[in-house]
Amino acid sequence: MEALRLILLFIHLVGFALLLGGAIAQFLTGKFRINPAVLWGSVIQLLSGLALAAPLRGGGDYEPSPIKLGVKLLLAILIFIMVFIPRKREAVNKGHFIGIIVLTLANAAVAVFWR
Ligand code: HEM
Repeated sequence: MEALRLILLFIHLVGFALLLGGAIAQFLTGKFRINPAVLWGSVIQLLSGLALAAPLRGGGDYEPSPIKLGVKLLLAILIFIMVFIPRKREAVNKGHFIGIIVLTLANAAVAVFWR
């Protein structure tokens, strides 16, 4: 099970790279459009995060608290909604786009600092 968990964690980090990298790259062009990297990144984060939240460690070492996972799920759902609904629009408001970036960073901070 440890190998499976590491593969899921790897996919989770690739999803994070797509979501944050895609959003920042887009932001730097000055056109606040939901690009495919952001859209797919948000989907990958939801699915790989839920899979990672399954108890695969067989007890013993670090087990994230259910409250931490609940907070992450809530933020990830929010990001997904903010990305999915305007996915076909030419551009969204700057504030909306910054919101996506901030929520993504917040979720990564929750992942790393909530121990
Ligand atoms: C935008 C959404 C998300 C981002 C940016 C994100 C970010 C991260 C990052 C950076 C890590 C690596 C932490 C480390 O290895 O120290 C991680 C691990 C993890 N994430 Fe996420 N995540 C997201 C969504 C989710 C969701 C929805 C869940 C499940 C409810 C989830 C569950 C986990 C679990 C179980 C781990 C591994 C154990 C842990 O460090 O708590 N993540 N996440």
